[in-house]
Amino acid sequence: MVKDLQQKIIELKKQKDVCILAHSYMSEDVCEVADFVGDSYALAVKAKTAPQKQVIMCGVRFMAETVKMLSPSKRVILSNPQAGCPMAEQMDREVIAEVKKMYPDYAVVAYINTTAELKTIADYCVTSSSAVKICRAIPQKNILFIPDINLGSYVKKQIPEKNFKLLSGGCPTHAKIERSDVLEAKKLHPSALLLVHPECRPEVTELADFVGSTSGIMDFALNSDKNEFIIGTENSIVQHLQFKKPDKKFYPLSKNLICPNMKLTTLPDVFACLTGEGGEEIFMDEDTRVSAVKCIEKMIALGG
Ligand code: 13P
Ligand code: SF4
Repeated sequence: MVKDLQQKIIELKKQKDVCILAHSYMSEDVCEVADFVGDSYALAVKAKTAPQKQVIMCGVRFMAETVKMLSPSKRVILSNPQAGCPMAEQMDREVIAEVKKMYPDYAVVAYINTTAELKTIADYCVTSSSAVKICRAIPQKNILFIPDINLGSYVKKQIPEKNFKLLSGGCPTHAKIERSDVLEAKKLHPSALLLVHPECRPEVTELADFVGSTSGIMDFALNSDKNEFIIGTENSIVQHLQFKKPDKKFYPLSKNLICPNMKLTTLPDVFACLTGEGGEEIFMDEDTRVSAVKCIEKMIALGG
């Protein structure tokens, strides 16, 4: 049944010249029909170069908006219209414009998990895999980092020579993880390395053997000569790793590490996008796009 639907999707995407992009938090069956699977940085880069005129983004809304910003002439479909990222909605443009007035000598660095509207007042955009590199590379010494206080704290720690101001936004899924979850997991799996996403709280990242993006965590675990890993990011990464390396052991840091938004997209949703019966086409007014894309273009130039 799954294989049949996957086969139909693969035929339809070829017929209609559609590129399917999937964030690494998608389930295994969706990843298998995608042309490219990756973290949010790699997806943004891929969106810019994909030759197809239509893109289906299996992920959350800000990811589909990023594709539209970078490729305005493409038809971009968000696989499930309900799939938003709560962190992206946490801060609005007007509030940040006021904060900016209070700190005129600070560059606004926005995590890519933000709306297109908020990106219009950001000086730079970053992803979890490029944040440290970009904050280090930009000429400004003072940085107002929005909206993720945990990613911001992690970046600040890596670059002590710069001044950071952080606001208190973040990912409700990763922020649920506490130090006690880490201690419990380490007790159960004393030989395992702990790999965590920088959206986790500082008291979690400071206990980790490796901190990185979704792809960073996967690459680390696949290339390591160690055999056991506790995975501190969305639990789909545990499944993908187990598929790729059945001879290694991967344990979820917590059974609660599930992003309900990323879990919305199913294989039937992808099929419905291809038959024109599902998904949502992304539209963006040109002024917003032109203004918001600048910080994404800078991110790609500085983050590669
Ligand atoms: P990545 O940058 O690792 O893809 O993370 C995106 C995200 O939403 C993590 O929760
Ligand atoms: Fe947003 Fe967190 Fe889900 Fe990532 S895991 S998409 S930051 S809610």
